[in-house]
Amino acid sequence: MPIEETETEIILTHPNNSSTKARILKYGATVFSWELKGEEQLWLSTAAKLDGSKPVRGGIPLVFPVFGKNHDDEHLSKLPQHGLARNSVWEFLGQVKSNPPTIQLGLGPEFANEELTNLWPFEYSLVLSVELGDEYLKTEIEVLNTSTTQNLKFNWLFHTYLKIDDIEDTLVSNLSSTKLYDQLLKESYIDRQPVISVHEELDRIYQNVDEDRIIQVIDKGYPIHTLKRHNLPDTVVWNPWVEKSKGMADFEPKDGFKNMVCVEPGHVHDFVVLAPGENWVASQILYKDELKFQKV
Ligand code: BG6
Repeated sequence: MPIEETETEIILTHPNNSSTKARILKYGATVFSWELKGEEQLWLSTAAKLDGSKPVRGGIPLVFPVFGKNHDDEHLSKLPQHGLARNSVWEFLGQVKSNPPTIQLGLGPEFANEELTNLWPFEYSLVLSVELGDEYLKTEIEVLNTSTTQNLKFNWLFHTYLKIDDIEDTLVSNLSSTKLYDQLLKESYIDRQPVISVHEELDRIYQNVDEDRIIQVIDKGYPIHTLKRHNLPDTVVWNPWVEKSKGMADFEPKDGFKNMVCVEPGHVHDFVVLAPGENWVASQILYKDELKFQKV
């Protein structure tokens, strides 16, 4: 069966290969597993809560309407870190295509997390499409401003936790010569390194990255994840390393940071602003590809 719905999740199975699957939790519309020909591609903490008590630590949590903790905006600053989409139960809207299996989930203020909606009383409709290709996973978001009077101001980000063998053998490529904001140093600069390697906590927002730059995660010279973005100018690269992992109760095993790197396409260095009735669409595609070193 290509699409199965349970009370809490949707399971997609590719009709050409039953070991290619995606599992999407209705809570947060979080893709928490993507197996490509039997091999898991996403990192998920063994202590991740899948019962709706907390955003999922792993997979692809969705960040909306604010990235991080906002301190300036009158309304967005009332929300917790990363907003309300990952803490809300989304509605399963149904199947759009059977091959590749594609489903949609929706969220609006009428059924989003009530407590958080009271803090951020805006009108919107979100539709997430998840498409399971035989060689890729595509997640696409459409944000519609359903208000007739007010602008809708928001950040969006796919908080993608990628599974890797060993962070010390891993490089993230094709982001060099890009301006970044280092969230740990609280400084902006241009990354002159040809590739990113991680040997300590890293938390960077690469800004305005050309859409035709294909980001890759490379393990000992072999590309293990390739990432294409549409309408998502920024990319956050994050690894919590030793101390930060210790501080996160739902991050297990504690040395799990060795087996993950977050590469998070988003629109976060500034806000998308939609006039009443306007919509905005963006997507990420994860797949496997040959090694690509792009001209910078
Ligand atoms: C990343 C941020 O996107 O998410 C980090 O850049 C943050 O600063 C991380 O620590 C995890 O956030 P959270 O809220 O899921 O613990």
